Amino acid sequence: MKKQILKVLREAGQDFVSGQSLCTTLGVSRQAVWKNIGQLKEAGYEIESVSNKGYRLLSGPKELYGPEIESYLSEDSICKKIVFFEEIDSTNTYCKQMAEQGEAEGCLVVAEKQTNGRGRRGRGWDSESGVGIWMTMILRPQISPLKVPGITLLTAIAVGKAIEDVCGVKPQIKWPNDLVLGGKKICGILTEMSSEMNYVNYVVTGIGINGNTKSFPEELQDSATSLFLELGQEVNRGEIIGRFANIFGDYYQEYIKYENLSTLVELYNSMLASKDKEVLIYHGMIEDAKPEEIEQGIARGIDESGALLVEVDGQMKRIMSGEVSVRGVYGYV
Ligand code: BTN
Repeated sequence: MKKQILKVLREAGQDFVSGQSLCTTLGVSRQAVWKNIGQLKEAGYEIESVSNKGYRLLSGPKELYGPEIESYLSEDSICKKIVFFEEIDSTNTYCKQMAEQGEAEGCLVVAEKQTNGRGRRGRGWDSESGVGIWMTMILRPQISPLKVPGITLLTAIAVGKAIEDVCGVKPQIKWPNDLVLGGKKICGILTEMSSEMNYVNYVVTGIGINGNTKSFPEELQDSATSLFLELGQEVNRGEIIGRFANIFGDYYQEYIKYENLSTLVELYNSMLASKDKEVLIYHGMIEDAKPEEIEQGIARGIDESGALLVEVDGQMKRIMSGEVSVRGVYGYV
């Protein structure tokens, strides 16, 4: 009921909503409304109540709050269940355990803090408490395991669109799936799966967004940023999560239907940071790549499989994610 109260009050904006109209809309007693309003206040919501006028939402807590995230979900959202933790080792690790135990598609696990956040290629992922968006969605796509990497690309577009809708800034994508703002990373995605030769048991897609992070350790300062640092103000993390879940569901259904990114290629390419720019393709480790392991070309965009098309010496090359790393000529993007 709290999610519905929040939705109604939010949609009323500056206007008061009478207790009676809340009862009628929600189909509950006045006492139930009163009790839930009290619980929302305890959770940190500032709700003004004036006799003969009703209730008005003034502000919400900085902390993530499950019912608020739910209040942003559309009726037909893929996200049917939100599991929230104050602290967990890693939302990806937890989702894998849940999926092994049969948890259904559409379960979203969100944490305020991760003690063992994981990044790609075995790296760690800094997951400070109370400022980031650390979340993982459980999926059970009926597609070939070979097509699972495409889910990571559509996740990147969905995160980008959610940020644009809520914060009014347009992040770019660094192929295949980092999101960047002002040339620095704001979001990373880690997709993991359990599969047989031709069958996907489950996929977990983990998303880390630097939301209200105020500062980064020195070694990350050149390559990482946050929405707070780029916008100069705090963002509503709950709204971004809800918005993401809705958009993600739409893109994911399209991907499953066509088994390719055909309907999303244009959108992806419009967000691609390196589009029509010079890039370096590293066939070995970036750190100590030998000259013969580096190619230079112009990135033209992805195709419907998610491969990056790079023009090298007048010839179009298809670069598959996971095989190589691509960097801009002048740095990370
Ligand atoms: C990357 O290396 O760019 C991917 C980072 C992914 C981090 C997210 S945070 C939520 C989820 N849980 C994890 O342990 N990792 C992912």
